[in-house]
Amino acid sequence: MERALTLYQTTIGKKAVVALTGVILVGFVVGHMLGNMNAYAGEEAFNGYAAALREVPALLWGARLLLLIAFPLHIYTAISLARLNRSARPQRYARKVDLVTSQPAKWMPYTGLILLAYLLFHLAHLTFGWAGPFNPENPFDTFVRGFQDPAISAAYIVGNLALGLHLFHGVWSMFQSLGASHPKYDRFRTDLAVFLSAIITVGNLSFPIAVMFGFIQ
Ligand code: HEM
Repeated sequence: MERALTLYQTTIGKKAVVALTGVILVGFVVGHMLGNMNAYAGEEAFNGYAAALREVPALLWGARLLLLIAFPLHIYTAISLARLNRSARPQRYARKVDLVTSQPAKWMPYTGLILLAYLLFHLAHLTFGWAGPFNPENPFDTFVRGFQDPAISAAYIVGNLALGLHLFHGVWSMFQSLGASHPKYDRFRTDLAVFLSAIITVGNLSFPIAVMFGFIQ
């Protein structure tokens, strides 16, 4: 325990925690997007999927517990890592060489903040019913009527664009943090980062857009 805590104080330990919690969060986001694809199969399929999740409380609460640990740990450790890096080099570099992901990397704190705000809004909207139309008996109805409101759809579009940028740099740097970076694999990790972030962004953006254009109704 003491050794683990000592490791957590170091840059390497913190990077590993951000990367591992990031892997859990990416896994959740992919599974969540695939589950939401049931909306394209219609009301019965979507509501059936939502009901099936609740029929296995151990699985639902297991996943919720994992998220409740992974989300705050990811955010807290990322902030403390940034602070540690800044205190290690109080003076800015005179000349910086930009890497492939340098713009999305600089935006990480901002995309992360937008994502957090989006997540709070998303839970208020679809889980607690505090924002927009809410029909607890019929999640498909909540989904469709919510995205028919341009303001709600706009919030989802902004939030999911931020998610895409955050994921792009996150997936790319995950390899480095876990010690799996080598010039031989650089092409692969760039391709994987582009592929995963594009699939998730396009998939998630498709829901509000499909409702607004009447493909899901
Ligand atoms: C357009 C994209 C998305 C749609 C349509 C969507 C839809 C939903 C729906 C229908 C629920 C279930 C509400 C309930 O019955 O309690 C839900 C819950 C949730 N969503 Fe999303 N979601 C989207 C994107 C995201 C993203 C990007 C994240 C994370 C970054 C996320 C995180 C969550 C969480 C944490 C829950 C609560 C799960 C639980 O109740 O345990 N969602 N979402």
